[in-house]
Amino acid sequence: MSDGFFLTFEGADGSGKSTQARRLAEALKAEGRDVVLTREPGGSTGAEEIRRLLVEGDPGRWSAETEILLFFAARRDHLERTILPALERGAIVISDRFSDSTRVYQGAARGELRAVVDTMHKLMIGKEPDLTLVIDIDAETGLKRGLARNSGEDRFEELGAGFQQKLRHGYRALLTDFPTRCIGIDGKGDEDTVATRVRDALIGRLP
Ligand code: TYD
Repeated sequence: MSDGFFLTFEGADGSGKSTQARRLAEALKAEGRDVVLTREPGGSTGAEEIRRLLVEGDPGRWSAETEILLFFAARRDHLERTILPALERGAIVISDRFSDSTRVYQGAARGELRAVVDTMHKLMIGKEPDLTLVIDIDAETGLKRGLARNSGEDRFEELGAGFQQKLRHGYRALLTDFPTRCIGIDGKGDEDTVATRVRDALIGRLP
């Protein structure tokens, strides 16, 4: 058993979770805590290589099944090389996305593959976060923010507004599936407002 704390941020594209994850990591570091900020897909050398296969190119490049295998290959490497070693030394690990993203994106939004995702998670990962903050944003705002970035990593954003709507429903269902682990955060408003909501949600929960 590890002594660290494993916190994940989840939400649809453009929800602001990456900004909030970074801000929280900076704030906790400023308090003198040992914090590792990481992300998925990616977070380790091998997983970052797999990331490029996943986020660039034609939206129809992979079937949902192939995508699941690639995400889990990346996640296993991320877990082995980044997350577990940091938790073992007692760090707070903040990951921008983890298995819940696969549950929602591949499991709910792109086909009825949730059972496959849960089985893969159990077999190859077997670790849930201690706490997950799910940033909720309406589909249109999310899509606008996501595409405005012009990052060249828009394979998922390019699936359009209907897909974003499914993601929102998927994330809401997640809050019901994991009521003790997952907390919903309203993503409306400016960065500071949402950051305050994040800090409020953490009161009494961090070690
Ligand atoms: P991310 O880098 O978080 O993108 P963004 O900053 O736009 O939120 O993730 C890249 C894309 O990969 C994103 O559209 C969500 C998708 N994704 C999945 O479909 N399944 C997964 O398991 C993960 C981790 C990400």
